[in-house]
Amino acid sequence: MDLSSNKPFIAGNWKMNKTTHEAVEFAEALNDAVSIEEIEATIVLFPAFTALSEIKKNLEKSPVFMGAQDLFWEEKGAFTGEISASMLKDAGCDYVLIGHSERRKYFGESNESVNKKIRKALTHNLSPVMCIGESLEERKKGETIKKIETQLKDGLNGLGKDEIKRIILAYEPIWAIGTGETATPAQAEEVHHFIRNKLAENYGNENTSCVIILYGGSVKPANTFSLLKEKDINGVLVGGASLKVDSFKEIITEAIKAYKER
Ligand code: PGA
Repeated sequence: MDLSSNKPFIAGNWKMNKTTHEAVEFAEALNDAVSIEEIEATIVLFPAFTALSEIKKNLEKSPVFMGAQDLFWEEKGAFTGEISASMLKDAGCDYVLIGHSERRKYFGESNESVNKKIRKALTHNLSPVMCIGESLEERKKGETIKKIETQLKDGLNGLGKDEIKRIILAYEPIWAIGTGETATPAQAEEVHHFIRNKLAENYGNENTSCVIILYGGSVKPANTFSLLKEKDINGVLVGGASLKVDSFKEIITEAIKAYKER
């Protein structure tokens, strides 16, 4: 696990893509491509559950970390179809996505369930990546900041100062996810800046200045550099463009370049 904000954090969210065989092929190719970059970026893959254990074997000696796309907040028991934090640890995960907008939209995730999942992840030493973001309608109505504020307040409810340091946030405007329409660096920075200030207000600047805040939503090699030049953007959560080694690798290179120039 690497929670340093001194280098860019590049995460690939594969969503419901790639069989185990395809996932392993990707991991092998990525390993070959990234070994020199290991100290300059934190790289994390988020494959489907079925590929986790197998991929881990390929990442054992690699600088690339692994995370899962979700978990359930109970320890174990009669919860058909769910997966626990201990199972994810056992499979080799260090990170877990929580509250992705697709989970909120299709599977009824609420800020309350997100909060329970974050707490469970932390008790198992998994770093939660909490995803937040507004819809197009909310943006048009000028409600972006209000939405983000509520998601932060309810999603992080009850967490202490030491816990907040272990959280990663991902600002993903829903209108930018999978649409090809990226937020401009200025639009993204405005929200990231708000998030950082809000965290500092609630938990103290000394505890939150290093919290990693990612941008997600149609990130590609061509827009990574300008996004990562912004002061409060520490990395990217990449969907579509993380499915091919070439574009994912290019994003890593662009992010490192931008971070060096900040
Ligand atoms: P996208 O997805 O890069 O395909 O827009 C990002 C995400 O949903 O995390």
